[in-house]
Amino acid sequence: MGSRSHLAPVWSKVTDIEVVSGSGAVVYAKDGSEYLDFTSGIAVASTGHCHPKVVQAIKDQADRFIHAQVNCYQHDLLEPLAERLDGITPNGIDTFFFANSGAEATEGAVKLARQYTKKPNIIVFQGSFHGRTAQTMAMTTSKTSYRAGHMPLPSGVFVSMFPDYAAAGETEQEAVDKALAYLDYLLAAQTAPSETAAMVIEPVQGEGGYLPAPKAFLEGVAKRCKDNEILFVVDEVQAGFGRTGRMFAIDHYGLTPDIMIMAKGIASGFPISAIGSSQEIMSKWPVGSHGGTYGGNPIGCAAALATIDVLTSDGFLENVNARGEQLRSGLQELKMQDPSIGDVRGLGVMIGSTIVRPGGRVPDGARVSRMLAHARDHGKVIFMNAGTWGHVLRWMPPLVVSEAQMGQGLAAFEAALKATAE
Ligand SMILES: Cc1ncc(COP(=O)(O)O)c(C=O)c1O
Repeated sequence: MGSRSHLAPVWSKVTDIEVVSGSGAVVYAKDGSEYLDFTSGIAVASTGHCHPKVVQAIKDQADRFIHAQVNCYQHDLLEPLAERLDGITPNGIDTFFFANSGAEATEGAVKLARQYTKKPNIIVFQGSFHGRTAQTMAMTTSKTSYRAGHMPLPSGVFVSMFPDYAAAGETEQEAVDKALAYLDYLLAAQTAPSETAAMVIEPVQGEGGYLPAPKAFLEGVAKRCKDNEILFVVDEVQAGFGRTGRMFAIDHYGLTPDIMIMAKGIASGFPISAIGSSQEIMSKWPVGSHGGTYGGNPIGCAAALATIDVLTSDGFLENVNARGEQLRSGLQELKMQDPSIGDVRGLGVMIGSTIVRPGGRVPDGARVSRMLAHARDHGKVIFMNAGTWGHVLRWMPPLVVSEAQMGQGLAAFEAALKATAE
């Protein structure tokens, strides 16, 4: 090997650790050290790294068929996976299209919404992240770095407010009222209901900072969709598949979306994503107007079926909720002692802890960067940040994280907080 890397330098790096294997919530490095992985590879390794049931399903399927292209023939795991998803998604979502990544599924969902409604525009919400393709970059407003240098992006995307009352110092009700009033304004001033195909929203913002939508806000968004024949589309790419302690984040709200976008945790790391909606909506997608070479790959379907079996097994989500409680109360306790923890929010093990300048609300992303380095080097825990200013330390361990491992994560966080205090 030459001295220079032949890899594109475009990937930003959380760490430069060279890993060789993973098991559960732990990853093993080439130099023999091991780390607790509180990134889950960006909320993907839902059942943990290399869950034996998922590994076995992939091995078995690899012996039978690696690539069975959906246009050419139908392999025997497509219907079973669609049926399984029908069983775990909200009522009304019963028909599925498979793709490979979250961005691809999001872009497909936009195409579907436009075909179904015959309307052009999309409303998204400030701070959201929907992907890296041109269409999904146009829908992403969590950080300028995702879009800078790639403009101009596709038009027809309008950005409404997402309430962040803790940051703004308002009550939840004030923030919800303001955000819904802005949405009404957008529909009156910029994109008429008759021109608006869909509102696409993350029920819990991911890259934006692990920020759940207040219930009244999401209800208000859904109502405006219903009243105006606009499709209510939820992006569950990061929050779905058990991360919030329910199978999907939208389950906490009791709302039924028209379209659901799923990826990441669906197959424990094997790249497969899905768009779900009613048969009625899907039937208006003209045959041949969407597709893809790899979507519905048989190994991806096998990995997804095994993952869903694990996620729905007895006691699995109970562990997610217990670990979420443990984490939340540990962080709340630390917050009482340290005013640089601004806000602790989230659901299940999708928790964001914001770091601010003590006594105020000024986000301190630089300190979070120092904390991540400290936790990696001293606590042997890999964390990642989120939020527009990188000031949210996001907690997204594999869902199989144990009580002791969560304790180790909290201890590493506390030590990093103390070591980086000025
Ligand atoms: C909510 C959400 N939507 C879409 C995406 C894009 O998914 P992918 O990176 O698989 O294209 C992400 C990725 O982080 C995400 O968090």
